Amino acid sequence: MKIIYLDNAASTKIPDKVAKNVYEKMIKFYGNPSSAHSIGEAAKKEFEKAKASLASLINAKPWEIIITSGGTESNNLAIIGAARASGRKKIIISSIEHSSVYEAAMHLKDEGYEVKIIPVDKNGLVNINALENEIDRNTAIVSIIHVNGETGAIQDIERIGGICLKKGAIFHTDAVQSYGRIKIDVKKMNISLLSAGGHKVGGPNGVGFIFIKEGTPVEPIMYGGKQQKGMRSGTENVPGAAGFAMAASLKYMNKNERTIKEIRDYFINKVEKIGGKWNGSDKNTVYSHAHVTFNGIDGDSLVAYLSSKGIMCSRGSACETNKEEKRILKSLGLNEIESKGSVRFVFSEEINRKDVDYVIRNISKFIRMHS
Ligand SMILES: Cc1ncc(COP(=O)(O)O)c(C=O)c1O
Repeated sequence: MKIIYLDNAASTKIPDKVAKNVYEKMIKFYGNPSSAHSIGEAAKKEFEKAKASLASLINAKPWEIIITSGGTESNNLAIIGAARASGRKKIIISSIEHSSVYEAAMHLKDEGYEVKIIPVDKNGLVNINALENEIDRNTAIVSIIHVNGETGAIQDIERIGGICLKKGAIFHTDAVQSYGRIKIDVKKMNISLLSAGGHKVGGPNGVGFIFIKEGTPVEPIMYGGKQQKGMRSGTENVPGAAGFAMAASLKYMNKNERTIKEIRDYFINKVEKIGGKWNGSDKNTVYSHAHVTFNGIDGDSLVAYLSSKGIMCSRGSACETNKEEKRILKSLGLNEIESKGSVRFVFSEEINRKDVDYVIRNISKFIRMHS
C-alpha cells in the first residue's frame, strides 16, 4: 500500500542524503568535542560548522546558536532561563502556545510568577493591542508562537518583536513549525530568543536549537560540564546537529512553497465540497497546513480509518494531551463537537493531485458510512 504522509507538522521524512550525512558524521566524528586531542577538535569543528549553517538561515551569528535536544528543551530554556535571569516576575504568552511553552510558564506560576495569557481571534491571531497593554516594567519575557502547530496560523512576529523592543521586554518565539518553512530574520523581526527543532524540517529527532541574541540574559536550566558556554551542559550531539543543519539548508534551497500550497489548496477546495470546514485563511495560514472540521464526525475514528488506507494524518499536535489540544482549539473558537471532529493534514512536496483525490475519496467514504 502506498503511504500518503500528511502529518508533516508532527515529524517529517528524513531525506536519504540527510540520513547518510548523520551516519557518516557518527562514524567519522566520534570524538568528544571537549577533548583536547585532534579527534575531539575535529568533532568540535564539525559542531561549530553545523551551528554556523543553522544560524545563517535566520541572519544570526554562529555563537548565538545553542544546540539542544529539541523544541521542548529550547522553549523551556527560553521561558524559565530568561525569566530567572531577568529578576522580573511577569510572563506573557498567547492562548495557543505549544504545551512546552504553556507548561513552562505554568511551572513558573507555581513559583510565584504572574502569567498573562493573551487571547487570539477566530483566525488564530494574537490580539496585539491586548499584548501591548500587558507589557510593563515587571515583564520578564513575552513568548508568542510563530506558526501554530494545529491550524498553521502565522503571527505578525515582526510587529510583536517591535513592540517588545520598544517596551523593553525580552521577546521569544517558538519557531518549531516555521523554521525551514518560512523566512525568518531575527534582526529584522526583533527576536531575542527563538526555538527550532530538527524533526520538523527533515532532520533527526532529538535535536533542536535556541537562538539567544548576543547580550540577552538567560540562565541555564541544566548543570554539568558547562559545554556551549555553560548555557547547555552535556556532550554535544555532533551528528544530530550536522543532520539538522543539512536538512534545514535543503529545505531553504528547494523552495517548494508554491507547489505545496497549490496542492494544499486543491485539497481544501475538494474537502470543502464534501462538508469539511477549513480552519484557516489564505492570508494568515502557512502554505502547508490544513486543519479541517467535519461536523458530527469523530476525528479519532477518521484518523484511524484513513491510516488503514495508508493515509497518515492526525487530530493535532502529537505532543498535546487531549486536554491540551482542547485548550488550543477552544481558544480558537471551536466548541467541543467541532474540536472532536477536527483533523489536521500537513502537506509536503511529495504529495500530488492523485494522492489528494485518493484522500478525498476515502474521507467521503468514511462520512457516508457514519451519517
Ligand atoms: C510549535 C511546537 N513547539 C514545540 C514542539 C516540541 O518540539 P520537540 O518535539 O522537538 O520537542 C512542537 C512539536 O510538535 C511544536 O509543534
